[in-house]
Amino acid sequence: MSEVKNPLGLVGIEFTEYATPDADYMDKVFTDFGFSKLKKYKDKDVVYYNQNDIHFLLNNEREGFSAAFAKSHGPAICSMGWRVENAQKAFEVAVERGAKPATESANKDFPYPAIYGIGDSLIYFIEIFGDKGSIYDNDFVDLEEQNIVKDKGFLRIDHLTNNVYKGTMETWANFYKNVFGFEEVRYFDIKGQKTALLSYALKSPCGTFSIPINEGKDDNNNQIDEYLDEYNGPGVQHLAFLTNDLVASLDQLDQSTIATLDIIPEYYETIFDRVPWVKEDKEKIRKHQILVDSQSENCYLLQIFSKNLFGPIFIEMIQRVDDGGFGEGNFQALFESIERDQERRGVL
Ligand SMILES: [Fe+2]
Repeated sequence: MSEVKNPLGLVGIEFTEYATPDADYMDKVFTDFGFSKLKKYKDKDVVYYNQNDIHFLLNNEREGFSAAFAKSHGPAICSMGWRVENAQKAFEVAVERGAKPATESANKDFPYPAIYGIGDSLIYFIEIFGDKGSIYDNDFVDLEEQNIVKDKGFLRIDHLTNNVYKGTMETWANFYKNVFGFEEVRYFDIKGQKTALLSYALKSPCGTFSIPINEGKDDNNNQIDEYLDEYNGPGVQHLAFLTNDLVASLDQLDQSTIATLDIIPEYYETIFDRVPWVKEDKEKIRKHQILVDSQSENCYLLQIFSKNLFGPIFIEMIQRVDDGGFGEGNFQALFESIERDQERRGVL
């Protein structure tokens, strides 16, 4: 492969598209997270939700790519739109570099050039954003009944994590590296009480988001394999929303819909000794069961994870204070929390 750092001219994430058999439920989840329901695609039942620079499409079409995707996966992230300087050129270069093109036979729902991504989801290339306007202005119309809600401080997508079959992590890492120019930033080996996983984090060549990839390490019904069974293939395990004030975001969040993972009380007996420079109210951190991590002095991140929210997919909420990590110090606590949840559900 050539040495070009950003061969497709990738600039960031434009949208995430959801396929679901239950649109009302997804609408409630999005609303509770503080997304406003604003528009629909001009000739399709695809609804546009927005909060700051996070853009969601909820596809309710009964035919086409998304409908077929929902049939085989249940509630799913069936596509993403990635911002590039020139969509057609990015598409051509991606195919040259080994990506599989999504042509007319893919029955794709939008006219933007696209390739196949993780688990045969689509990655659309979007060139209209920022100063050039937006696809929502060009290709969508206002809903008669908009639902504009107060935003909850979620600014953009910080990262999205993929779960893949054992032995295929390298293949998928190479896909992101070879086609887009992602770079490896971290490698983890995580062991719980009963199960284990490997994780490999990649940073986009534009530096605006990351893609960690997980694969299970044993044959013990670990949480990655449970996901793969339920989702019927590899895909997005979670999306992380960035906020500048996680405590305030959680104060506003409707906890009735969006349950978060429980953290053992002992966690808070030591965490503030390990990360004493946290500025937020420690009582609130404990009350919301927020996880804290730090890679170096005066830098830290706060994060929290929902339980599985739609199908096996969950949402992370993250606040970064000069910390570019993924909460490595919390992987153990988090992994064990999911194991406890698996045990309660009778999976382990
Ligand atoms: Fe994450």
